[in-house]
Amino acid sequence: MNRVFSGIQPTGNLHLGNYLGAIRNWVGMQADFECIYCIVDLHAITMPHDPKALAAATRDMAAGILAAGVDPARTILFHQSAVTAHAELAWTLMSVARIGWLDRMIQFKEKRGKDTEGPSVGLYTYPVLQAADILAYRATHVPVGEDQKQHLELARDIAIKFNAMYGDILKPPLPVIGGANNVGAARIMSLRDGTAKMSKSDPSEASRIDLTDTADAIAAKIKRAKSDADVLPATAAGLEGRPEAKNLVAIFAALSGQTVDTVLNDYGGKGFGAFKPALAEITVAALAPINAEYVRLRADPGHIDAVLRDGAGRAGAIAAPLLREVYDAVGFLR
Ligand code: TYM
Repeated sequence: MNRVFSGIQPTGNLHLGNYLGAIRNWVGMQADFECIYCIVDLHAITMPHDPKALAAATRDMAAGILAAGVDPARTILFHQSAVTAHAELAWTLMSVARIGWLDRMIQFKEKRGKDTEGPSVGLYTYPVLQAADILAYRATHVPVGEDQKQHLELARDIAIKFNAMYGDILKPPLPVIGGANNVGAARIMSLRDGTAKMSKSDPSEASRIDLTDTADAIAAKIKRAKSDADVLPATAAGLEGRPEAKNLVAIFAALSGQTVDTVLNDYGGKGFGAFKPALAEITVAALAPINAEYVRLRADPGHIDAVLRDGAGRAGAIAAPLLREVYDAVGFLR
């Protein structure tokens, strides 16, 4: 049986990178798969966070995901801390994963920066919890952006090693990166720097388009987006070495469902003065319905909480027997 699992941290707003890299696929995969989507609040506390803001951020993230088109009638949406199997399986897998594997994790090194002593142990073991998230449901497919590829490979390695140690219980998952037709959407870059990923943690608001931005804010950010002085090339190959141009064309292609070459068929030879207003228009048109639905859903926190509670109940019912099987295999007394 095919089953989809994916997660997102409740830090900051949903942005265009999350949407094109992951959430749009979360929505699309509902047609063909049983889907389980998780707001990973356990992961969110591995970096300094504001305890007073976390619950509201979790609820807002749920509203954003629902507004984007995740349908709680057929899909499970819940927050991670509400299903204890995640932490319990993670602890068990902590003794399967090797220090050498975690030492190679790029995201940890990026988040740690130059501070080798100060980061939490949770930040270091973060990818083991991520593996537990996926493996607890025997998920077969995991839709994510390119930046999660290494964590997905680790989850596979952990499943394979666990099975070698204790018997064939865990299912090594497959990443689904950027989706089948999302040309270039696997890694959306900052609007201020075409070599940096669009990210919730970038201090510059102008670097990203949030799904909660108004039409005016979206248009202003695209107008200000870094570009270059050349006209657009006729084919995708001509975008090499022009990271900002490449990113803006990739966003246009992903939002319009076209290939980069098709977009360049229309805009090759034109400058950003012509391209940016068209990009703003298509972005506003894609995000306006999501924004309106988000505003509507946020006004009813009781409904959001009910969706998450229901999702947690359904998720827990799937994860509990798997955890029991793992505990038996490891040798814990019942
Ligand atoms: P997070 O919260 O950073 O991002 C959520 C999803 O959005 C994708 N993404 C992007 N895709 C393209 N371009 C970008 N600029 C961009 N920025 C973010 C991410 O790849 C991700 O798919 N560790 C995960 C959360 C997680 C998870 C899981 C994911 C926890 N457990 C289990 C999958 C399965 C994270 O921090 O994602």
